[in-house]
Amino acid sequence: MPGYKLAIDGPAGSGKSTISSLIAKKLGWTHIDTGAMYRAVTLLAIEKGINLNDEASYRFLESSLIHYDSNRIFIDDRDVTEAIRSEAVTHHVSLVSSFPYVRKKLVQLQQRAALNGNIVMDGRDIGTVVLPKADLKIFLTANVEERAKRRFKENVKKGKQAQISQVIEDIVNRDQKDSTRKESPLRKASDAVELDTTYLTIEQVVNKIIELTDKKENNHGV
Ligand code: CDP
Repeated sequence: MPGYKLAIDGPAGSGKSTISSLIAKKLGWTHIDTGAMYRAVTLLAIEKGINLNDEASYRFLESSLIHYDSNRIFIDDRDVTEAIRSEAVTHHVSLVSSFPYVRKKLVQLQQRAALNGNIVMDGRDIGTVVLPKADLKIFLTANVEERAKRRFKENVKKGKQAQISQVIEDIVNRDQKDSTRKESPLRKASDAVELDTTYLTIEQVVNKIIELTDKKENNHGV
């Protein structure tokens, strides 16, 4: 059964993963966090001690299975949900995800995972590359101070030490790398609905998107 495909893209800290996971829970749909998949590749590359700048070194992906299931991310059978949030992974993930070979591998996995059922997929290139025919595309934004504040709060909750200035720097750096890379840069699909979440609560954003999916579903029936 093909099902409904909802694509949610946006820059670092715009709330994609939190919002997508809540929408999936409310609607009983499957959520796929593609950022977690790029983070898992980065973690594995660091663990293997490869030269991170050498695209050919990522061939290890031929024999490692990265998959996202029920809000957890796995490398083969190993649950790396917590490990992928480390500072080292965050620091290197934009470099790792800039390689065409890495993207090709993960996009294949993502498209396969989205084949059946109702899916919410979040990332940077979902509306433009992974699911260009998605039923609804959302582009989430928020100003950089608000995004840094959210990420800072998340870090504090997890007991991580970080300076707000450092969080801002990380977000600005990643936005810059993600939106200027050659391969599938972060950008809004021409048919995406842009939602500025700076002054909205999580609940408001979730409800707004569900309202939009309802409208689209109704239009399908007309
Ligand atoms: O930290 P945040 O949740 O905002 O980012 P993420 O969704 O975990 O994604 C981490 C990184 O993976 C991004 O900064 C991008 O470099 C990369 N990414 C990508 O290139 N394409 C995607 N579809 C998703 C993530």
